[in-house]
Amino acid sequence: MKTIFELIDLKGRCAVITGATGYLGRTFCHTLAELNCNIVIVDINPDKCKEFATEISSKYGVDSLALDCYLSIESNVAAIPEKVQKHFGRMDILINNAAYVGTSGLQGWATSFDKQSTSTWRQALEVNLTAVFTLCRESVPLLKNSGNGSIINIASIYGLLGPDWGLYDGTEMGNPAAYSASKGGLIQFTRWLSTTCAPGIRANSICPGGIFRNQDKVFLERYISKTPLRRMAIEEDFKGIIAYLSSDMSRYVSGQNFIIDGGFSAW
Ligand SMILES: NC(=O)c1ccc[n+]([C@@H]2O[C@H](COP(=O)([O-])OP(=O)(O)OC[C@H]3O[C@@H](n4cnc5c(N)ncnc54)[C@H](O)[C@@H]3O)[C@@H](O)[C@H]2O)c1
Repeated sequence: MKTIFELIDLKGRCAVITGATGYLGRTFCHTLAELNCNIVIVDINPDKCKEFATEISSKYGVDSLALDCYLSIESNVAAIPEKVQKHFGRMDILINNAAYVGTSGLQGWATSFDKQSTSTWRQALEVNLTAVFTLCRESVPLLKNSGNGSIINIASIYGLLGPDWGLYDGTEMGNPAAYSASKGGLIQFTRWLSTTCAPGIRANSICPGGIFRNQDKVFLERYISKTPLRRMAIEEDFKGIIAYLSSDMSRYVSGQNFIIDGGFSAW
């Protein structure tokens, strides 16, 4: 029987992480590189991607590749697996993490329902859901070849729950309809993938709860009082689930959604 250290080791494997230079994306890259995994950094800004790739390689001694890409452009998305194949010859883990989030500052986004625009809804669906569909479809041959293929889709508690508007009263914060709808779609797309791509590839989703980012004090107090563990999440809270779902620790786990929210959704 393998030891726990053997099961979690990702030596020689290759992970593609979208939105890799954002808060959670960086945490995921550090986590997998700590477990000896080679890393593909996908995000919009080419300089940030290159800088972060250099940081990851020098800190952990793994190989890393910076791929700047607009996930709203289908040809950009579809080109990713070929670039990964060329550099690493394999893809074992795909983490779909990039998204328009509540704080993305788009027009017609985190505002009242009557002001949320159809064009922003479409843009958000394109990045948060359609790009994931395209990237998964194009990555299937490489992930199947891996023998250990694992897709991890980063959803949200707002893919499961309706917003409690009392949390936002009197703040500048919002909870866009397209965010919720795209994340709900992502959770169901993950289940669909898990049976469609089995047995070669596993697919699971994660629903993080709210992460502390110096939010409005009033919001913070209300959010924390609704959370059984009495705090918002921090990035480190997601290292465990990412290590678990990426590695052979979870090799008999597929089609599941993991809610990491300090108990927010338990009552
Ligand atoms: N922050 C939270 O409280 C929270 C809660 C639940 C779920 N999540 C989810 O976690 C994931 C990461 O969120 P985060 O808080 O780290 O946000 P973030 O804004 O720090 O990271 C998102 C990354 O996605 C990239 N991105 C956005 N649009 C892109 C595009 N068109 N093409 C390529 N890259 C693009 C951004 O450049 C950014 O680096 C998201 O899927 C988000 O929905 C976050």
